[in-house]
Amino acid sequence: MTHKVALLGFGVVGQGLAEILETKADALYANVGFEAKVVAISDLMKGSLYHPDGLDLSLALRIVGETGSLQGYPDTPGLIKGWDSFQTIRESNADTIVEMTFTDIKTGQPAIDHCKAAFESKKNIVMSNKGPVSLAFRELETVAKQNGVRWCYEGTVMSGTPSIRMPLVSLVGNDISEIRGILNGTTNYILTRMEEGLTYEDALAEAQSLGYAEADPRNDVEGFDAQYKVTILANTIMNAHIQRDEIAREGISKLTPQDIQWAKENKKRWKLIARVVKEGEHVMAKVGPEAIPLTDPLAGVLGAQNAITYYCDLAGPITLIGAGAGRTETGFSILIDLINISRGQL
Ligand code: HSE
Repeated sequence: MTHKVALLGFGVVGQGLAEILETKADALYANVGFEAKVVAISDLMKGSLYHPDGLDLSLALRIVGETGSLQGYPDTPGLIKGWDSFQTIRESNADTIVEMTFTDIKTGQPAIDHCKAAFESKKNIVMSNKGPVSLAFRELETVAKQNGVRWCYEGTVMSGTPSIRMPLVSLVGNDISEIRGILNGTTNYILTRMEEGLTYEDALAEAQSLGYAEADPRNDVEGFDAQYKVTILANTIMNAHIQRDEIAREGISKLTPQDIQWAKENKKRWKLIARVVKEGEHVMAKVGPEAIPLTDPLAGVLGAQNAITYYCDLAGPITLIGAGAGRTETGFSILIDLINISRGQL
């Protein structure tokens, strides 16, 4: 059955997802029987479109590319322009709302209210914004369950690298006692470049120019980004009830060239490690710089890459390495959530 989707936000991630849905449409239908129809796009700056029978995605992409707005999309019978996000959530015929708005990472808004409105309208939500998921996990999960709908957020941790679905699906049956990861690309890039001789300031400037860093890079270098992500892992994979501000956090901004040199001389490498440990029913999480031995699989993860090791009682330690950000990778994370919702799988 065709899965009807509404896109809230049509920026980098939204357009990346639209391109994937366009270019992969035939293959997805032929290979996994997945067929998606985008019935609405609502963007605070670019305007909004709704058609219950579906929009022409390549036309919408072309018009936004040329004019920066959706206003030039041709009027056709049944097309409605100008709905805001809440109208789109409540009044569209979408099965799933993909939440990609420009959301304040500290307050989680407007995404948190969008999620509640969607769940109460019996619509699923897919999102990749870690702010609202790390802030309001239990509340949103409860409202989604009460309304019998799905809430998926694979892209919040390591974008399209399956850091959430792999342990929940492929490693199910294991007791995972510890999760240890490099969850922030900016800091890993900075540490890699400092080891190559750059100053902290120059390495940070490089990370910013390459687009790895958050709008406010303190979110990266002071460990907030990793703290938010580790909150999501603790709550989803370890079934903890941890608030993100309860997690001890230290960034990398105090590491000196002398610290880097000391690690080199001792066959170690500094990494910003996010860690969740489960002892009985107690779950502890923290984020901080650690000098780890070069033999540790995480030590070989260089540049902006992310990685995560799950310590499983049956399968042993399993390390997943991959991208932690990116337009296509994040678009993929949303696609895989949509596919699994449409086929009724986790
Ligand atoms: N600023 C983040 C990072 C992007 O450096 O990993 C992905 O959340």
